[in-house]
Amino acid sequence: MNNYSCPLCDKSLQLADDQRSLRCDNNHQFDRAKQGYFNLLPVQRKKSKEPGDSKEMISARSDFLAADYYQPLAHKIAQLIEHKQSDQQFTMLDIGCGEGYYSRQIKQLIPDIIQYGIDIAKPAIIKAAKADKNGHYAVASSDKLPLADDSLDLIMKVYAPANDQELQRVLKSNGTLLTVTPAARHLWQLREFIYTDVREHDTQDTQFAGFELTQSERLSYSITPSREHRIALLQMTPFAWRANEQVSAQIADADDLSIELDFIINLYQPISR
Ligand SMILES: C[S@@+](CC[C@H](N)C(=O)[O-])C[C@H]1O[C@@H](n2cnc3c(N)ncnc32)[C@H](O)[C@@H]1O
Ligand SMILES: [Zn+2]
Repeated sequence: MNNYSCPLCDKSLQLADDQRSLRCDNNHQFDRAKQGYFNLLPVQRKKSKEPGDSKEMISARSDFLAADYYQPLAHKIAQLIEHKQSDQQFTMLDIGCGEGYYSRQIKQLIPDIIQYGIDIAKPAIIKAAKADKNGHYAVASSDKLPLADDSLDLIMKVYAPANDQELQRVLKSNGTLLTVTPAARHLWQLREFIYTDVREHDTQDTQFAGFELTQSERLSYSITPSREHRIALLQMTPFAWRANEQVSAQIADADDLSIELDFIINLYQPISR
């Protein structure tokens, strides 16, 4: 049993007996890559040769996350999910999952959860699939999710783009959308190196068409990353391109820099149709 649907014709995809390919009734076939993932992003939907985050960004994020500075966030997410878990078949999708850090952390705390992860960046999905043989990972776009209607109990969206209609389509009517976004003081001390006038992030709750906000949690704590991890953290942020060599060197040399992390975790539910 799997929840995949064909990205070309929307029919359900059946897993072959040898588990090596997916096929729909219209005979569209998708072979499993050797690392264990499926590529469900049709070429015609690729807007560039290598869509999504670059290999360098993925690698910086992967090195940084491996040091578990974001583990309190992952644990908080897992706690919130645990409360929603209603049965053994509880199925979640990590949308824009990157290299799968949060999914793996959640699995450790909720071992029987069924996990899907999609990302448009193939190098990210390769990393995710290699690190977790039990997850279902696919290269796909959040604009067109290769998943069946009403098939998911939870969608997690950690700093990733989404399409409201697709979220509505794949989530069960009693399902939950969980988002993580930066709160006002997120990475304040890092941003101080880059901007002369650091502004608090705008924390107005994002609205998703067809959803209502049911719970909002803020999680704030400070970390003191190593030199190597300060650089990786900078590289994985959207403002990295603003940091010239001089600023990057200043951040690298800022020993014992304590950096605030500040997140908003929102839970939404579909408005009954
Ligand atoms: C800031 S990263 C967050 C990754 C991961 N959730 C994390 O927090 O570690 C955003 C991710 O969204 C992916 N992405 C960007 N556009 C996408 C799209 N249209 N569909 C799916 N993934 C996309 C990127 O490749 C990247 O891995
Ligand atoms: Zn098809």
